[in-house]
Amino acid sequence: MRLSLRFIIPLAFVLGFIAYGVISLVDSLEQKWFVRDLDLRSKLMVGTMEKPLADLVATNSKNKIRAYFTRIVQDERLYAIGFCSRENRLLYETQSYPEDVTCQATMSLSPGSSTMMSLGHGLVHITSATIESSGHPIGRLVLLHDMSFIEQRSSDTRWYIFYFFVGLAAVISLITVSVAHISWHGWVVSVRAMLGGEGLLARLKHEDHAPELRPLAQDLRSLVQALETDRRMRDESQVSWSPASLRSILHEQLAGDQVLIVSNRQPYAHNWQDQNIVVQVPASGLVSALEPVMRACSGTWIAHGNGSADRAMVDQRDHVAVPPAHPTYQIRRVWLTPEEEAGYYYGFSNEGLWPLCHIAHVRPTFRSSDWKQYVAVNERFAQAVYEEATNDNPVVLVQDYHFALLPRLIRNQLPNATIIMFWHIPWPNAESFGICPWREEILDGLLGSSILGFHTRVHCNNFIDSVDRLLETRIDRNSSTISFGGKMTAVNPYPISIEWPIQWLADQKPVPECRMSLRERYGMPSNRLIGLGVERLDYTKGIIERFMAVERLLELQPEWIGRFTFLQIAAPSRWVIEQYNSFNRQVLALAEQINKRFGRDGYQPISLKIQHHEPAEVYECYRGADLCVVSSLHDGMNLVAKEFIGARDDEQGVLILSQFTGAARELTEALVINPYDIDQFAAALHLALTMPTTEQRARMQSMRGLIQEFNVYRWAGRMLMDAARMRQKERVMKQVGQASLLS
Ligand code: F6P
Repeated sequence: MRLSLRFIIPLAFVLGFIAYGVISLVDSLEQKWFVRDLDLRSKLMVGTMEKPLADLVATNSKNKIRAYFTRIVQDERLYAIGFCSRENRLLYETQSYPEDVTCQATMSLSPGSSTMMSLGHGLVHITSATIESSGHPIGRLVLLHDMSFIEQRSSDTRWYIFYFFVGLAAVISLITVSVAHISWHGWVVSVRAMLGGEGLLARLKHEDHAPELRPLAQDLRSLVQALETDRRMRDESQVSWSPASLRSILHEQLAGDQVLIVSNRQPYAHNWQDQNIVVQVPASGLVSALEPVMRACSGTWIAHGNGSADRAMVDQRDHVAVPPAHPTYQIRRVWLTPEEEAGYYYGFSNEGLWPLCHIAHVRPTFRSSDWKQYVAVNERFAQAVYEEATNDNPVVLVQDYHFALLPRLIRNQLPNATIIMFWHIPWPNAESFGICPWREEILDGLLGSSILGFHTRVHCNNFIDSVDRLLETRIDRNSSTISFGGKMTAVNPYPISIEWPIQWLADQKPVPECRMSLRERYGMPSNRLIGLGVERLDYTKGIIERFMAVERLLELQPEWIGRFTFLQIAAPSRWVIEQYNSFNRQVLALAEQINKRFGRDGYQPISLKIQHHEPAEVYECYRGADLCVVSSLHDGMNLVAKEFIGARDDEQGVLILSQFTGAARELTEALVINPYDIDQFAAALHLALTMPTTEQRARMQSMRGLIQEFNVYRWAGRMLMDAARMRQKERVMKQVGQASLLS
C-alpha cells in the first residue's frame, strides 16, 4: 500500500501540471481558430447580403428590412444585425441588437477585422462592412455573432482533456504499481531464496523471475555466499575446538538458548547390584561422543530409562543430575513398557532399520505391530521434549534411527524450534531404502528437521536420492537442501569424533604399566603381542572376519603361534533378537575352533571376553595393545578407531581399519583393509606386528593431530553454528517478509 502511494501521488502531480498546460494551450488555439472562422463567415454573409440589402434600403421599408434581418438571424450563431447610416445612425436592427453596440463604436472597425465585446449573456463577435449601391456607399452593415458556443466547446474540450489525463494517470499508475509489485515480490522471493540457501541461480533460470532482477539477485547471492564462506572458514580455522569454545558458541551465537538432546540410550544407567546401586556407562559410540558435548552445554538429555535402579534415582519430574561425581547437566528419563521396548527398540529399530541401513547381508524384518510401537514411542518422546522446553524455540539435538519420526512431531508442537537430527548409522542407497513399508513416513519425519546430519557425503547423497525418488519436494543439490511443505532441511556431513583431551586418560597409568597390567589381567607373558578388538557383539562389526584373519595369519606365518593373541572385548548387545543370539554362538564357536587348532601349553590365540567393560578398563586395553582392529562390514563412523588413537599418547601402536567405515575417510594412515578379503587382512596383521616403531610413530602422530583438531566439540560446534546461522537467516527472512507485507 505504501509502495503504491509512493508511486501514485507524484504521478498525479506531474500529470496534473501537464494537463493544466495542455488545456490552456488548447483553449487559446481554439479561440483563435473560432474567431478566424467567424471573420470568414461574416465576410461571406456580407457578400451574400449586400445586393438584396441595397435593394431593400432603396425601398426605405423598415418592416421589410427588419423581416429580412430576422430571417437571417435564425442562424443560431448569428446573434444580431444592425444597419448604420452614412451619418452613423442606427437605421435598422433586429430586436436582439444590443444598445451598447453603437454605430460610433463600430465605425473604427476596418473591413475584414473584428472585435469582441462582453455583453450580459456572454461574449459577442462584431464585424462591420460598408454596403454600396451602384458604386456609392449607402451605409454599414454590423454583424454580431454569439460566441457562447465557443465557450461551450472550450469547456467541453477542457473536460475531454481532463478525462483523458485522469484515464492516462490511472493506466500509468496501474502499470507502474503492478510492475513495482511484481518486481518487489520477485526481489523478496529471490532474497528469501538466497537467504534460505535455496538454489537461486537455478530458480532464476525459470521464467517466474523477472529477467531484470537476475543481475541484482546474482550479485546478492554471490555476496551472501562469499560472506558465508569467509565467515565459516574464519570460524573454523580460528576456533580451537574445546568445551570452552562450544560454550562460547552457545552463549554468543545461540544467545544461551536451551539445548535438549534426545537419544534412546542414556549416558548413565543406574543398576542394582547386590542391593547396591551402581552406575554404568553403556558401550555406545553415540554416548561417548555426546556426553562431553552435554557436559559443555549443560542442558537436558532425554533418554530411555533402562537401568534396573533408574526409577530409584530420579526426582518427581523423572530427572537425575549427572555425571554422578560432578553434575553439570540432567537426564530426563522416559519409561517404556516391555511391549513398547520390544516393538520400538528391538523390533522396528534393530530388526528393521538397523539391517536395512547396514550392508551386512542380514535381512530386515518389518512388522506392523513393531511400527505401531515405534510411532507411539516417538510420540512419547515428542511429548517429553515439549514438557522440557522452557520456551518455544529450543535447540533440539535428536539422535539416531530410533527417532526418525521425532523431528516432524517436535516441529508440529514447537514450530520455531531448531531441530538438528543426527543419523549415526549409514543411509542405504535409494533402492535398498525403498523396501521399507513405511519409507514415506520416515522421510517425512526426518524432513521435520532444520539440519539433518550424516557422517559422510555419500550417506547425505543416498538420503537425498531416496527423497528424490519417493517424495514430492524441491531439492537443491548445490546447497544440499530439501524444501518440503514450505520448510527447508539442510542435509550435511558432520563426521563425528571423540573428546580431546580424553577424560578417561586422566587417571591412566603410563603405557608400559598398562601393557603389563593388561597381560597380567589376562594371564599372558610380558612378551606377548596383543591385537585388540572392542565393540558391541554385533554382526556388522566384522568379528567373524577378523577371527578368520587371525587364523589365516597363523596358517601363513606360524612364527606368530604362541607370540600373538587377539583380545576381543565384546559387550553383549540386543540379546533378545535371534540374529544376535545366533551371531553370539557363531563367534564363540569360531574362537573355540581356532583356539583348539592353534592353542597349546596355556596359549590361546583368541581371548574372547563377552561382558560389559567400563571406559577406564577399555582405555587401559587401548594403551596396552600393540595393534587394534576395526573391521566393520559397514559402519557410519566407528569411534573405537579414534579412541585407540586418542589413547596412544606414546605414539605407538597400529590401527587396522576397514575401508567400509566412515573413519577410513579421515584416518588414511591406518592400515586400511577390506574385511571380506581374509588374505589381505592376515597380511595387514603381519605388517602391523612387524612395523618399525618409527613408522608407527609417524602414522600415529599424523592421525592424532587430525583427531585433536577434528574432535567432537568441532562436530557439535559446526552443527550448532549452522543452526545459529539458520536462526539468523530466519530472522532476516521474517523481516523481509514483513517489509513486503507493509509495502
Ligand atoms: O552408534 C550406533 C549405535 O547404534 C548407537 O545409536 C547406539 O547407541 C549404539 O550404537 C549402541 O547400540 P544400543 O544403544 O542399541 O546398545
